[in-house]
Parts: sequence; C-alpha cells; structure tokens
Amino acid sequence: MQGFRQGTIVHRQVWTPGSVTLRLEAATEPLIPGQFHNLALQVGDKWVRRAYSAASAPGQPLEFFVNRVDDGELTPDLTELSVGTEVFIDPRPRGFFTLASVPEVPDLWLWATGTGLAPYISMLRTPEPFARFERVVLVHGVRQGAQLAYAEELEELGQSRPQRFVRIPVVSRENVVGALQGRVTGLFAGGTIERQAGVAVAPDRSHVMLCGNPAMITEMVELLDRRGLRRNRSRRPGQVTFERYW
Ligand SMILES: Cc1cc2nc3c(=O)[nH]c(=O)nc-3n(C[C@H](O)[C@H](O)[C@H](O)COP(=O)(O)OP(=O)(O)OC[C@H]3O[C@@H](n4cnc5c(N)ncnc54)[C@H](O)[C@@H]3O)c2cc1C
Ligand SMILES: NC(=O)c1ccc[n+]([C@@H]2O[C@H](COP(=O)([O-])OP(=O)(O)OC[C@H]3O[C@@H](n4cnc5c(N)ncnc54)[C@H](OP(=O)(O)O)[C@@H]3O)[C@@H](O)[C@H]2O)c1
Repeated sequence: MQGFRQGTIVHRQVWTPGSVTLRLEAATEPLIPGQFHNLALQVGDKWVRRAYSAASAPGQPLEFFVNRVDDGELTPDLTELSVGTEVFIDPRPRGFFTLASVPEVPDLWLWATGTGLAPYISMLRTPEPFARFERVVLVHGVRQGAQLAYAEELEELGQSRPQRFVRIPVVSRENVVGALQGRVTGLFAGGTIERQAGVAVAPDRSHVMLCGNPAMITEMVELLDRRGLRRNRSRRPGQVTFERYW
C-alpha cells in the first residue's frame, strides 16, 4: 500500500467474540483525539483499507476498537490478528471530529453506538474535556451488556470526577442492571436520558457529538433539531457535530 507503513500488534483485548481492542506499535504522526487512521491488510489477492478512530490518547501506543462485521471485507481478518502480527497503517491521522470544532458551552454530550465510542475514549484520556466543560455526559448504546466495552475505565473516571462526568450505558436487546434498556434515540425522545444525566439538552448550554451507526445519527440530528440544536458548521456554528461510520 503506497504511503502506508508496517505496524505491529502489541496487545489484543477481546470484549466479546468479534469485538476487540488492538494496540499497535507504528511510526505515525501526532494524533488529535477524535481523528482516525486508515488501516489495511492484504485480503486474498487485494488490499483492503478502512478508517478506524483512535481510542488512545496522543503520545500513547495507538489503540483501535473494532467490531467484526461477519460479511465485511476487512474485519473478519482484522479482528483475528494476534500479538506480533503486522497490519499496514497510513501514518497520517485524519478527520475533523475533534474538540477543536466544539464551541465553549457548559455541557458536552458524547453520544455513541457500538464502536462509535472509540473517539470519546481518546478524548476522555486527556484532561481537555474537563478543562473546558463543566459537565461531560457519555451515552453509549449497544445491543448486549457484554458489548459495553471500556466500562471499567469509564466507571473509574466517573468516580474520580463526581458531578462532572456522567456515563449512561444503554442496552437495546436485553435487560442489564445499571443500564437503560432501549435505543438511545427513543430514550432521548422520552426524556429518560436527560433525567438520568440530571441536565437537559438545550441550545444555549449543550454541544452534542454523535458517532457510530448512521441511522442513529440521522434520527438524533432530527430529534435535536426539534429541540433547537443545529448542525455545527465552520461558517455557521451550531450545537451538533457528527461522524458516520458507514
Ligand atoms: C471515520 C470513520 C471511523 C471509523 N472508526 C471505526 C472504529 O473505530 N471501529 C470500527 O469498528 N469501525 C470503524 N469505522 C468503520 C470501518 O471503517 C469499517 O467500515 C468497518 O470496520 C467494516 O469494515 P469491513 O471491511 O469489515 O466491512 P465492509 O465490507 O466495508 O461492510 C460495511 C458494512 O458493515 C457495517 N459496519 C461498518 N462499520 C461498522 C461498525 N463499526 N459497527 C457495526 N457495523 C458496521 C455496515 O453495515 C456497512 O455497510 C469507521 C468508519 C469511518 C468512516
Ligand atoms: N457489538 C459487538 O460486540 C459485535 C461483536 C461481533 C460482531 N458484531 C457485528 O457488528 C455489527 C453490528 O454492530 P453493533 O451491534 O456494534 O452496531 P449497531 O447495529 O449499530 O448497534 C448498536 C446499537 O445501536 C442501536 N441502533 C441501531 N440502529 C439505530 C437507530 N436507527 N437509532 C438508534 N439506535 C440504533 C442498536 O439497537 P438495536 O439492537 O435495536 O438494533 C444497538 O443498541 C453486526 O454485523 C454484528 O454482527 C458486533
């Protein structure tokens, strides 16, 4: 792959079968939390490359949180890579889904489904969110409780930042103690998520970042629009920033 470099898997953590975190040793350019790298592997006789948000903090070994898509081209191979094996990486991180584009407001909402959690892990591993925002609310929606990756690290963060960091796990396909049941969209529309967070989403006090399933993003953008929150654009600042994964 032209312009790509070889990286080595140095750590592999399995959250549930097919859902992994991979840590890579690779010579890459400096990262801003929220950015992604393109990773590539040779699959059969062709190269396949895909984008992956870094979950690591800048300056730390690169980390990626990847779910296997059973009929996907890259992830059946990518999620099986073992420690010591190689993966190709574009050394240049890309993308603008970062806190640099978020205006100064009291409340930052980080809203994810599935692996859309990754960019927020990177952000939350730096002091910036708590230096800039009074309160950070993380909403993570998954199908099953076992898919609530990074739960322990996030719980610890909540304990170390009482009143400032609220984590709201949401599970759609089973009932899990400590998590809301349903879809993040329905629970927002019904007011449950704001009640749980202890704060309302409002255009004069909130910025909402959305990442993951594109259908969730479309629905959330519509629900937020009805509440007066508009898309954040470089020429016309708003309250909603998003990254669609497909
Ligand atoms: C900016 C950006 C950042 C991304 N970061 C991540 C990341 O951190 N982790 C990650 O796992 N994926 C991430 N993705 C998605 C990733 O690029 C691939 O699309 C995904 O891994 C599937 O690749 P594949 O070749 O196996 O499937 P493909 O053959 O490309 O099949 C794509 C199909 O798989 C499904 N799909 C794609 N991505 C996901 C996903 N993450 N979860 C569930 N279903 C999915 C959709 O139905 C899609 O149509 C990101 C995408 C973008 C654009
Ligand atoms: N997540 C894993 O650990 C894992 C592991 C192995 C393989 N995979 C594969 O990854 C793919 C799916 O991944 P995923 O479960 O991470 O992602 P997903 O299908 O996007 O589901 C994540 C969460 O988003 C919800 N959701 C879906 N559409 C929505 C919408 N329009 N509005 C609001 N919420 C919505 C889902 O609810 P619903 O349940 O109601 O759809 C679920 O709670 C599949 O190919 C799966 O086989 C996942």
